[in-house]
Amino acid sequence: MKYLLGIDLGTSGTRSVLFDENGQVIAARSAEYPLHQPRNGWAEQDPEDWWQAAIATISQVVKQSGVDPRKISALGISGQMHGLVMLDEQGQVLRPSIIWADQRTGEECGDITRLVGAQRLIEITANPALTGFTASKIMWVKKHQPEIYARCRHILLPKDYLRYKLTGDFATEVSDASGMQLLDVPKRQWSQEVLDRLGIAKELLPRVYESPEVTGHISQEAGRLTGLTGTTLVVGGAGDNAAAAVGTGTVVDGRAFTTIGTSGVVFAHASQLAIDPKGRVHTFCCAVPGAWHVMGVVQSAGLSKRWIRDTLCQVEIEQAEQMGVDSYDLVDQLAAASPPGANRLLFLPYLMGERTPHLDPDCRGAFFGLSAIHQRGDLIRAVMEGVSYALRDSLDILDGMGVSSQDMLLTGGGAKSPFWRQLLADIFARPIHTIDSSEGPALGVAILAGVGAGVYPSVEQACERLVKQGASIAPDASLAPTYASYHRLYQQLYPALKDAYGQLAAL
Ligand code: XUL
Repeated sequence: MKYLLGIDLGTSGTRSVLFDENGQVIAARSAEYPLHQPRNGWAEQDPEDWWQAAIATISQVVKQSGVDPRKISALGISGQMHGLVMLDEQGQVLRPSIIWADQRTGEECGDITRLVGAQRLIEITANPALTGFTASKIMWVKKHQPEIYARCRHILLPKDYLRYKLTGDFATEVSDASGMQLLDVPKRQWSQEVLDRLGIAKELLPRVYESPEVTGHISQEAGRLTGLTGTTLVVGGAGDNAAAAVGTGTVVDGRAFTTIGTSGVVFAHASQLAIDPKGRVHTFCCAVPGAWHVMGVVQSAGLSKRWIRDTLCQVEIEQAEQMGVDSYDLVDQLAAASPPGANRLLFLPYLMGERTPHLDPDCRGAFFGLSAIHQRGDLIRAVMEGVSYALRDSLDILDGMGVSSQDMLLTGGGAKSPFWRQLLADIFARPIHTIDSSEGPALGVAILAGVGAGVYPSVEQACERLVKQGASIAPDASLAPTYASYHRLYQQLYPALKDAYGQLAAL
Protein backbone atom coordinates (compact mmCIF):
# COMPACT_ATOMS: atom_id res chain seq x y z
CA MET A 1 0.00 0.00 0.00
CA LYS A 2 1.23 3.49 -0.85
CA TYR A 3 0.36 6.61 1.11
CA LEU A 4 -0.14 10.23 0.08
CA LEU A 5 -0.13 13.36 2.22
CA GLY A 6 -2.33 16.41 1.60
CA ILE A 7 -1.60 19.67 3.40
CA ASP A 8 -4.10 22.52 3.27
CA LEU A 9 -2.83 25.90 4.43
CA GLY A 10 -6.12 27.71 5.12
CA THR A 11 -6.84 31.16 6.50
CA SER A 12 -7.98 29.97 9.93
CA GLY A 13 -5.61 27.01 10.19
CA THR A 14 -3.57 24.31 8.49
CA ARG A 15 -4.78 20.74 8.09
CA SER A 16 -2.61 17.77 7.21
CA VAL A 17 -4.25 14.53 6.13
CA LEU A 18 -2.62 11.19 5.31
CA PHE A 19 -4.55 9.05 2.79
CA ASP A 20 -3.90 5.55 1.56
CA GLU A 21 -3.91 5.03 -2.19
CA ASN A 22 -7.65 4.21 -2.05
CA GLY A 23 -8.37 7.67 -0.68
CA GLN A 24 -9.10 6.44 2.88
CA VAL A 25 -8.11 8.89 5.63
CA ILE A 26 -5.44 7.26 7.82
CA ALA A 27 -4.76 10.25 10.09
CA ALA A 28 -5.61 13.96 10.12
CA ARG A 29 -4.61 16.92 12.27
CA SER A 30 -5.36 20.67 12.25
CA ALA A 31 -3.70 23.63 13.94
CA GLU A 32 -5.07 27.17 14.05
CA TYR A 33 -3.34 30.57 13.88
CA PRO A 34 -4.45 34.19 14.10
CA LEU A 35 -5.45 36.64 11.38
CA HIS A 36 -4.13 40.13 12.10
CA GLN A 37 -6.20 43.15 11.04
CA PRO A 38 -4.00 46.15 11.91
CA ARG A 39 -6.43 48.50 10.13
CA ASN A 40 -9.97 48.39 8.73
CA GLY A 41 -9.69 46.36 5.50
CA TRP A 42 -6.14 45.09 6.12
CA ALA A 43 -5.42 41.38 6.66
CA GLU A 44 -2.03 39.88 7.47
CA GLN A 45 -0.61 36.60 8.76
CA ASP A 46 2.80 35.49 9.96
CA PRO A 47 4.39 32.88 7.63
CA GLU A 48 6.21 31.46 10.66
CA ASP A 49 2.75 30.56 12.11
CA TRP A 50 1.98 28.61 8.92
CA TRP A 51 5.30 26.76 9.11
CA GLN A 52 4.88 25.89 12.79
CA ALA A 53 1.33 24.63 12.08
CA ALA A 54 2.68 22.53 9.20
CA ILE A 55 5.44 21.02 11.35
CA ALA A 56 3.01 20.27 14.19
CA THR A 57 0.29 18.71 12.03
CA ILE A 58 2.58 16.72 9.72
CA SER A 59 4.62 15.26 12.57
CA GLN A 60 1.48 14.36 14.55
CA VAL A 61 -0.08 12.70 11.50
CA VAL A 62 3.07 10.70 10.75
CA LYS A 63 3.33 9.56 14.37
CA GLN A 64 -0.39 8.86 14.88
CA SER A 65 -0.72 6.87 11.64
CA GLY A 66 2.03 4.39 12.48
CA VAL A 67 2.82 4.34 8.73
CA ASP A 68 6.49 3.89 7.78
CA PRO A 69 7.27 7.41 6.47
CA ARG A 70 9.26 5.89 3.57
CA LYS A 71 5.92 4.57 2.26
CA ILE A 72 4.56 8.12 1.93
CA SER A 73 5.22 8.37 -1.79
CA ALA A 74 4.40 12.03 -2.25
CA LEU A 75 2.75 15.09 -0.75
CA GLY A 76 0.84 17.98 -2.19
CA ILE A 77 0.16 21.40 -0.68
CA SER A 78 -3.01 23.40 -1.15
CA GLY A 79 -3.28 26.93 0.14
CA GLN A 80 -5.13 30.17 0.52
CA MET A 81 -4.35 32.01 -2.70
CA HIS A 82 -2.86 35.44 -3.53
CA GLY A 83 -0.96 36.13 -0.26
CA LEU A 84 2.38 37.90 -0.63
CA VAL A 85 5.43 36.37 1.06
CA MET A 86 8.71 38.26 0.61
CA LEU A 87 12.08 36.70 1.45
CA ASP A 88 15.57 38.20 1.59
CA GLU A 89 18.82 36.76 0.22
CA GLN A 90 19.04 34.30 3.15
CA GLY A 91 15.45 33.13 2.68
CA GLN A 92 14.24 35.04 5.77
CA VAL A 93 10.71 36.50 5.79
CA LEU A 94 10.90 40.29 5.34
CA ARG A 95 7.42 41.36 6.53
CA PRO A 96 4.11 39.75 7.54
CA SER A 97 2.24 38.26 4.60
CA ILE A 98 -0.43 40.54 3.13
CA ILE A 99 -3.12 37.91 2.49
CA TRP A 100 -5.96 37.53 -0.04
CA ALA A 101 -8.58 39.24 2.15
CA ASP A 102 -6.56 42.48 2.43
CA GLN A 103 -8.14 45.41 0.61
CA ARG A 104 -5.54 48.18 1.00
CA THR A 105 -4.41 48.26 -2.63
CA GLY A 106 -7.20 50.15 -4.44
CA GLU A 107 -4.73 52.82 -5.62
CA GLU A 108 -2.17 50.27 -6.82
CA CYS A 109 -4.91 48.53 -8.86
CA GLY A 110 -5.46 51.88 -10.60
CA ASP A 111 -1.70 52.07 -11.27
CA ILE A 112 -1.61 48.52 -12.69
CA THR A 113 -4.57 49.20 -15.00
CA ARG A 114 -2.89 52.39 -16.25
CA LEU A 115 0.50 50.73 -16.77
CA VAL A 116 -0.71 47.60 -18.57
CA GLY A 117 -3.99 48.87 -20.08
CA ALA A 118 -7.38 47.59 -18.89
CA GLN A 119 -8.07 45.42 -21.92
CA ARG A 120 -4.53 44.04 -22.28
CA LEU A 121 -4.53 43.10 -18.58
CA ILE A 122 -7.67 41.00 -19.07
CA GLU A 123 -6.24 39.46 -22.28
CA ILE A 124 -3.05 38.36 -20.52
CA THR A 125 -4.02 37.70 -16.89
CA ALA A 126 -7.71 36.90 -17.64
CA ASN A 127 -8.77 39.27 -14.85
CA PRO A 128 -9.01 43.01 -14.17
CA ALA A 129 -6.66 44.48 -11.52
CA LEU A 130 -7.84 43.21 -8.15
CA THR A 131 -6.98 44.30 -4.62
CA GLY A 132 -7.03 40.67 -3.51
CA PHE A 133 -4.41 39.57 -6.06
CA THR A 134 -0.66 39.51 -5.42
CA ALA A 135 0.55 42.04 -8.02
CA SER A 136 -1.16 44.99 -6.32
CA LYS A 137 0.26 43.88 -2.96
CA ILE A 138 3.79 43.82 -4.45
CA MET A 139 3.20 47.32 -5.88
CA TRP A 140 2.01 48.50 -2.42
CA VAL A 141 5.21 47.31 -0.72
CA LYS A 142 7.28 48.84 -3.53
CA LYS A 143 5.56 52.20 -2.97
CA HIS A 144 5.13 52.25 0.82
CA GLN A 145 8.03 50.15 2.07
CA PRO A 146 10.79 50.65 -0.53
CA GLU A 147 13.50 49.62 1.92
CA ILE A 148 11.84 46.20 2.30
CA TYR A 149 11.29 45.86 -1.44
CA ALA A 150 14.96 46.62 -2.07
CA ARG A 151 15.97 43.68 0.15
CA CYS A 152 13.46 41.28 -1.42
CA ARG A 153 15.02 38.42 -3.44
CA HIS A 154 12.11 35.94 -3.57
CA ILE A 155 8.34 36.39 -3.87
CA LEU A 156 6.24 33.38 -2.93
CA LEU A 157 2.60 32.45 -2.39
CA PRO A 158 1.62 31.03 1.04
CA LYS A 159 1.66 27.33 0.10
CA ASP A 160 4.89 27.83 -1.88
CA TYR A 161 6.53 29.23 1.24
CA LEU A 162 5.73 25.90 2.93
CA ARG A 163 7.20 24.12 -0.08
CA TYR A 164 10.38 26.19 0.30
CA LYS A 165 10.60 25.28 4.00
CA LEU A 166 9.96 21.59 3.22
CA THR A 167 12.26 21.22 0.20
CA GLY A 168 14.45 24.32 -0.17
CA ASP A 169 13.01 24.85 -3.68
CA PHE A 170 11.50 28.07 -5.04
CA ALA A 171 8.59 26.77 -7.10
CA THR A 172 4.90 27.34 -7.75
CA GLU A 173 2.29 25.89 -10.09
CA VAL A 174 -0.16 27.31 -12.59
CA SER A 175 -3.40 27.37 -10.55
CA ASP A 176 -2.04 29.47 -7.68
CA ALA A 177 0.26 31.51 -9.95
CA SER A 178 -2.87 32.55 -11.92
CA GLY A 179 -3.97 34.54 -8.86
CA MET A 180 -0.81 36.65 -8.82
CA GLN A 181 -1.90 38.67 -11.87
CA LEU A 182 1.61 38.19 -13.30
CA LEU A 183 0.89 34.97 -15.21
CA ASP A 184 -0.11 34.79 -18.86
CA VAL A 185 -3.13 32.60 -18.07
CA PRO A 186 -3.80 31.42 -21.66
CA LYS A 187 -0.08 30.49 -22.11
CA ARG A 188 0.47 29.20 -18.52
CA GLN A 189 3.80 31.06 -18.01
CA TRP A 190 4.97 34.33 -16.42
CA SER A 191 4.08 37.34 -18.59
CA GLN A 192 7.26 39.24 -19.40
CA GLU A 193 5.06 42.07 -20.73
CA VAL A 194 3.18 42.55 -17.44
CA LEU A 195 6.40 42.19 -15.38
CA ASP A 196 8.16 44.81 -17.53
CA ARG A 197 5.27 47.25 -17.30
CA LEU A 198 5.05 46.89 -13.52
CA GLY A 199 8.83 46.98 -13.08
CA ILE A 200 8.98 43.62 -11.26
CA ALA A 201 12.09 41.49 -11.96
CA LYS A 202 11.28 37.96 -13.13
CA GLU A 203 14.17 36.66 -11.00
CA LEU A 204 12.05 37.36 -7.91
CA LEU A 205 9.46 34.79 -9.00
CA PRO A 206 9.61 31.02 -8.56
CA ARG A 207 9.62 28.50 -11.41
CA VAL A 208 6.10 27.56 -12.62
CA TYR A 209 5.02 23.90 -12.91
CA GLU A 210 1.76 22.15 -13.80
CA SER A 211 -0.06 21.12 -10.61
CA PRO A 212 0.71 17.35 -10.59
CA GLU A 213 4.38 17.79 -11.60
CA VAL A 214 7.12 16.90 -9.09
CA THR A 215 8.92 20.04 -7.88
CA GLY A 216 11.35 18.43 -5.38
CA HIS A 217 11.58 16.23 -2.30
CA ILE A 218 11.71 16.62 1.48
CA SER A 219 15.00 18.10 2.70
CA GLN A 220 17.00 16.59 5.54
CA GLU A 221 16.23 19.49 7.88
CA ALA A 222 12.47 19.34 7.12
CA GLY A 223 12.61 15.57 7.61
CA ARG A 224 14.11 16.08 11.07
CA LEU A 225 11.29 18.47 12.00
CA THR A 226 8.34 16.58 10.51
CA GLY A 227 9.24 12.90 10.63
CA LEU A 228 9.09 12.64 6.81
CA THR A 229 12.01 11.31 4.77
CA GLY A 230 13.77 12.31 1.55
CA THR A 231 11.85 9.58 -0.33
CA THR A 232 8.65 11.66 -0.21
CA LEU A 233 8.23 13.65 -3.42
CA VAL A 234 6.58 17.07 -3.38
CA VAL A 235 4.31 17.98 -6.30
CA GLY A 236 3.11 21.40 -7.46
CA GLY A 237 -0.18 21.15 -5.56
CA ALA A 238 -2.82 23.83 -6.14
CA GLY A 239 -4.52 26.95 -4.89
CA ASP A 240 -7.25 25.97 -2.43
CA ASN A 241 -10.10 26.25 -4.91
CA ALA A 242 -8.34 24.36 -7.69
CA ALA A 243 -7.44 21.72 -5.09
CA ALA A 244 -11.05 21.51 -3.88
CA ALA A 245 -12.06 21.00 -7.52
CA VAL A 246 -9.91 17.86 -7.67
CA GLY A 247 -11.15 16.75 -4.24
CA THR A 248 -14.77 17.04 -5.41
CA GLY A 249 -14.15 15.57 -8.86
CA THR A 250 -14.85 18.89 -10.61
CA VAL A 251 -12.32 18.08 -13.33
CA VAL A 252 -14.47 17.77 -16.46
CA ASP A 253 -16.80 20.15 -18.30
CA GLY A 254 -20.33 20.43 -16.91
CA ARG A 255 -19.28 20.10 -13.26
CA ALA A 256 -19.38 22.88 -10.67
CA PHE A 257 -19.03 23.25 -6.92
CA THR A 258 -19.61 25.84 -4.22
CA THR A 259 -17.31 26.23 -1.24
CA ILE A 260 -18.28 27.97 1.94
CA GLY A 261 -15.00 28.54 3.75
CA THR A 262 -13.79 31.87 5.14
CA SER A 263 -14.53 33.14 1.63
CA GLY A 264 -17.18 31.62 -0.61
CA VAL A 265 -16.57 30.38 -4.12
CA VAL A 266 -18.73 29.17 -6.99
CA PHE A 267 -16.41 27.26 -9.36
CA ALA A 268 -16.88 25.62 -12.76
CA HIS A 269 -14.42 23.57 -14.81
CA ALA A 270 -13.68 24.80 -18.36
CA SER A 271 -11.60 22.77 -20.81
CA GLN A 272 -11.63 25.81 -23.14
CA LEU A 273 -10.50 29.25 -22.01
CA ALA A 274 -13.58 31.34 -21.02
CA ILE A 275 -13.17 34.93 -19.80
CA ASP A 276 -15.93 37.25 -18.55
CA PRO A 277 -15.30 40.48 -20.52
CA LYS A 278 -16.66 42.46 -17.55
CA GLY A 279 -14.12 40.77 -15.24
CA ARG A 280 -16.76 39.95 -12.60
CA VAL A 281 -15.51 36.37 -12.15
CA HIS A 282 -11.95 34.98 -12.28
CA THR A 283 -10.53 32.72 -14.95
CA PHE A 284 -7.51 30.72 -13.74
CA CYS A 285 -5.48 27.74 -14.94
CA CYS A 286 -6.81 24.70 -13.13
CA ALA A 287 -5.00 21.73 -11.65
CA VAL A 288 -5.83 19.52 -14.64
CA PRO A 289 -2.94 20.17 -17.04
CA GLY A 290 -4.09 22.19 -20.04
CA ALA A 291 -7.49 23.22 -18.59
CA TRP A 292 -8.93 26.28 -16.82
CA HIS A 293 -11.69 27.14 -14.38
CA VAL A 294 -14.00 30.08 -13.88
CA MET A 295 -15.02 31.15 -10.39
CA GLY A 296 -16.87 33.87 -8.53
CA VAL A 297 -15.58 34.84 -5.08
CA VAL A 298 -17.56 36.18 -2.12
CA GLN A 299 -15.00 37.69 0.25
CA SER A 300 -16.81 37.01 3.54
CA ALA A 301 -18.89 33.83 3.48
CA GLY A 302 -18.05 31.64 6.49
CA LEU A 303 -16.33 34.74 7.85
CA SER A 304 -19.73 36.48 8.08
CA LYS A 305 -21.19 33.61 10.04
CA ARG A 306 -18.18 33.45 12.34
CA TRP A 307 -18.47 37.21 12.87
CA ILE A 308 -22.17 37.05 13.86
CA ARG A 309 -21.51 34.03 16.10
CA ASP A 310 -18.59 35.71 17.85
CA THR A 311 -20.47 39.01 18.17
CA LEU A 312 -23.92 37.80 19.29
CA CYS A 313 -23.64 34.23 20.47
CA GLN A 314 -21.22 34.07 23.43
CA VAL A 315 -23.91 32.17 25.37
CA GLU A 316 -24.16 29.50 22.66
CA ILE A 317 -20.37 29.25 22.40
CA GLU A 318 -20.15 28.52 26.15
CA GLN A 319 -23.17 26.18 26.08
CA ALA A 320 -21.69 24.25 23.17
CA GLU A 321 -18.44 23.85 25.05
CA GLN A 322 -20.25 22.43 28.06
CA MET A 323 -22.36 20.11 25.90
CA GLY A 324 -19.39 19.02 23.77
CA VAL A 325 -21.14 20.04 20.52
CA ASP A 326 -20.25 22.44 17.71
CA SER A 327 -21.32 25.99 18.57
CA TYR A 328 -22.45 26.48 14.95
CA ASP A 329 -25.15 23.82 15.51
CA LEU A 330 -26.69 26.00 18.24
CA VAL A 331 -26.31 29.10 16.07
CA ASP A 332 -28.16 27.28 13.27
CA GLN A 333 -31.01 26.43 15.65
CA LEU A 334 -31.51 30.13 16.33
CA ALA A 335 -31.51 30.88 12.58
CA ALA A 336 -33.94 28.06 11.82
CA ALA A 337 -36.49 29.59 14.21
CA SER A 338 -36.70 32.64 11.91
CA PRO A 339 -38.80 32.29 8.71
CA PRO A 340 -37.44 32.52 5.12
CA GLY A 341 -36.69 36.19 4.53
CA ALA A 342 -35.76 36.58 8.24
CA ASN A 343 -38.86 38.67 8.98
CA ARG A 344 -38.04 41.16 6.21
CA LEU A 345 -34.36 41.56 7.07
CA LEU A 346 -31.52 41.56 4.52
CA PHE A 347 -27.76 41.42 5.08
CA LEU A 348 -25.04 42.54 2.68
CA PRO A 349 -21.99 40.35 3.44
CA TYR A 350 -19.31 42.87 2.47
CA LEU A 351 -17.35 42.71 5.75
CA MET A 352 -14.04 42.66 3.83
CA GLY A 353 -15.15 44.50 0.65
CA GLU A 354 -16.45 42.40 -2.23
CA ARG A 355 -15.23 40.74 -5.41
CA THR A 356 -17.97 39.05 -7.44
CA PRO A 357 -19.92 40.79 -8.81
CA HIS A 358 -19.00 44.28 -7.55
CA LEU A 359 -15.17 44.38 -7.35
CA ASP A 360 -15.26 47.02 -4.64
CA PRO A 361 -12.71 47.11 -1.82
CA ASP A 362 -14.57 49.96 -0.07
CA CYS A 363 -18.01 48.43 0.38
CA ARG A 364 -18.87 47.10 3.84
CA GLY A 365 -21.57 44.99 5.46
CA ALA A 366 -25.09 46.23 6.16
CA PHE A 367 -28.35 45.04 7.67
CA PHE A 368 -31.32 46.43 5.74
CA GLY A 369 -34.78 46.51 7.27
CA LEU A 370 -33.84 46.25 10.96
CA SER A 371 -36.85 46.65 13.18
CA ALA A 372 -37.60 46.41 16.89
CA ILE A 373 -39.20 43.00 16.32
CA HIS A 374 -35.95 41.40 15.19
CA GLN A 375 -34.28 38.82 17.40
CA ARG A 376 -30.84 37.28 17.20
CA GLY A 377 -32.19 34.40 15.09
CA ASP A 378 -33.40 36.85 12.44
CA LEU A 379 -29.99 38.51 12.27
CA ILE A 380 -28.21 35.16 11.96
CA ARG A 381 -30.63 33.91 9.32
CA ALA A 382 -30.29 37.18 7.38
CA VAL A 383 -26.47 36.74 7.42
CA MET A 384 -26.71 33.20 6.04
CA GLU A 385 -29.30 34.24 3.45
CA GLY A 386 -27.21 37.28 2.43
CA VAL A 387 -24.12 35.13 1.85
CA SER A 388 -26.27 32.70 -0.16
CA TYR A 389 -27.66 35.53 -2.36
CA ALA A 390 -24.09 36.69 -2.97
CA LEU A 391 -23.13 33.16 -4.05
CA ARG A 392 -26.23 33.01 -6.26
CA ASP A 393 -24.98 36.17 -8.05
CA SER A 394 -21.78 34.26 -8.96
CA LEU A 395 -23.81 31.27 -10.12
CA ASP A 396 -25.93 33.48 -12.39
CA ILE A 397 -22.78 34.86 -14.07
CA LEU A 398 -21.34 31.36 -14.64
CA ASP A 399 -24.71 30.22 -16.04
CA GLY A 400 -24.61 33.22 -18.40
CA MET A 401 -21.11 32.22 -19.59
CA GLY A 402 -22.33 28.68 -20.28
CA VAL A 403 -19.77 27.04 -17.96
CA SER A 404 -22.05 26.00 -15.12
CA SER A 405 -24.00 22.87 -14.28
CA GLN A 406 -27.56 21.99 -13.33
CA ASP A 407 -26.38 20.33 -10.12
CA MET A 408 -24.10 21.86 -7.52
CA LEU A 409 -21.54 20.09 -5.33
CA LEU A 410 -21.00 21.67 -1.93
CA THR A 411 -17.84 21.63 0.17
CA GLY A 412 -15.98 23.65 2.85
CA GLY A 413 -16.79 24.17 6.54
CA GLY A 414 -20.20 25.71 5.73
CA ALA A 415 -21.22 22.49 3.98
CA LYS A 416 -21.29 20.77 7.39
CA SER A 417 -24.41 22.73 8.34
CA PRO A 418 -27.60 20.88 7.23
CA PHE A 419 -29.48 24.16 7.63
CA TRP A 420 -27.14 26.03 5.28
CA ARG A 421 -27.17 23.16 2.76
CA GLN A 422 -30.96 23.35 2.48
CA LEU A 423 -30.91 27.15 2.36
CA LEU A 424 -28.40 27.09 -0.48
CA ALA A 425 -30.40 24.46 -2.43
CA ASP A 426 -33.51 26.67 -2.02
CA ILE A 427 -31.76 29.92 -3.01
CA PHE A 428 -29.84 28.29 -5.91
CA ALA A 429 -33.10 26.53 -6.88
CA ARG A 430 -31.12 23.43 -7.86
CA PRO A 431 -30.08 20.18 -6.22
CA ILE A 432 -27.01 20.28 -4.00
CA HIS A 433 -24.79 17.24 -3.51
CA THR A 434 -22.25 16.82 -0.78
CA ILE A 435 -19.04 14.83 -1.18
CA ASP A 436 -18.45 11.73 0.88
CA SER A 437 -15.02 12.92 1.98
CA SER A 438 -15.04 16.21 3.85
CA GLU A 439 -11.34 16.69 3.03
CA GLY A 440 -11.86 18.62 -0.28
CA PRO A 441 -8.56 20.51 -0.79
CA ALA A 442 -6.37 18.05 1.15
CA LEU A 443 -7.77 15.10 -0.83
CA GLY A 444 -7.36 17.14 -4.03
CA VAL A 445 -3.64 17.71 -3.51
CA ALA A 446 -3.11 14.14 -2.29
CA ILE A 447 -4.59 13.04 -5.64
CA LEU A 448 -2.24 15.41 -7.48
CA ALA A 449 0.63 13.95 -5.42
CA GLY A 450 -0.46 10.45 -6.46
CA VAL A 451 -0.49 11.46 -10.13
CA GLY A 452 2.99 13.00 -9.78
CA ALA A 453 4.34 9.87 -8.08
CA GLY A 454 2.82 7.58 -10.72
CA VAL A 455 0.26 6.01 -8.33
CA TYR A 456 -2.60 7.15 -10.63
CA PRO A 457 -2.49 7.56 -14.42
CA SER A 458 -4.27 10.96 -14.55
CA VAL A 459 -6.16 13.46 -12.40
CA GLU A 460 -9.45 12.58 -14.09
CA GLN A 461 -9.02 8.81 -13.60
CA ALA A 462 -7.94 9.23 -9.98
CA CYS A 463 -11.06 11.33 -9.27
CA GLU A 464 -13.24 8.73 -10.95
CA ARG A 465 -11.79 6.10 -8.61
CA LEU A 466 -11.56 8.03 -5.34
CA VAL A 467 -14.21 10.78 -5.15
CA LYS A 468 -17.63 9.60 -4.00
CA GLN A 469 -20.75 11.73 -3.84
CA GLY A 470 -22.55 11.97 -0.47
CA ALA A 471 -26.03 13.17 0.46
CA SER A 472 -28.22 15.08 -2.03
CA ILE A 473 -30.52 17.93 -1.03
CA ALA A 474 -33.48 18.85 -3.24
CA PRO A 475 -34.62 22.48 -3.40
CA ASP A 476 -38.01 23.28 -1.86
CA ALA A 477 -39.84 24.68 -4.89
CA SER A 478 -42.53 26.30 -2.74
CA LEU A 479 -39.93 28.74 -1.34
CA ALA A 480 -38.51 29.80 -4.72
CA PRO A 481 -40.82 32.84 -5.21
CA THR A 482 -40.06 34.17 -1.68
CA TYR A 483 -36.29 33.87 -2.09
CA ALA A 484 -36.43 35.27 -5.64
CA SER A 485 -38.22 38.41 -4.35
CA TYR A 486 -35.69 38.92 -1.55
CA HIS A 487 -32.80 38.28 -3.96
CA ARG A 488 -34.11 40.96 -6.36
CA LEU A 489 -34.30 43.45 -3.49
CA TYR A 490 -30.83 42.38 -2.27
CA GLN A 491 -29.46 43.14 -5.75
CA GLN A 492 -30.83 46.69 -5.62
CA LEU A 493 -29.04 47.54 -2.38
CA TYR A 494 -25.40 47.67 -3.51
CA PRO A 495 -26.04 50.11 -6.40
CA ALA A 496 -28.07 52.29 -4.00
CA LEU A 497 -25.20 52.37 -1.48
CA LYS A 498 -22.20 52.51 -3.82
CA ASP A 499 -21.57 56.26 -3.49
CA ALA A 500 -22.12 56.19 0.25
CA TYR A 501 -19.50 53.43 0.57
CA GLY A 502 -16.98 55.66 -1.20
CA GLN A 503 -17.80 58.49 1.19
CA LEU A 504 -17.48 56.21 4.21
CA ALA A 505 -14.05 55.04 3.07
CA ALA A 506 -12.95 58.66 2.64
CA LEU A 507 -13.92 59.71 6.19
C1 XUL B 1 -9.71 32.96 -4.23
C2 XUL B 1 -9.55 33.55 -2.88
C3 XUL B 1 -9.95 32.78 -1.71
C4 XUL B 1 -8.72 32.34 -1.00
C5 XUL B 1 -9.11 31.91 0.39
O1 XUL B 1 -9.48 33.84 -5.25
O2 XUL B 1 -9.07 34.63 -2.70
O3 XUL B 1 -10.80 31.73 -1.99
O4 XUL B 1 -8.03 31.41 -1.76
O5 XUL B 1 -8.87 30.73 0.77
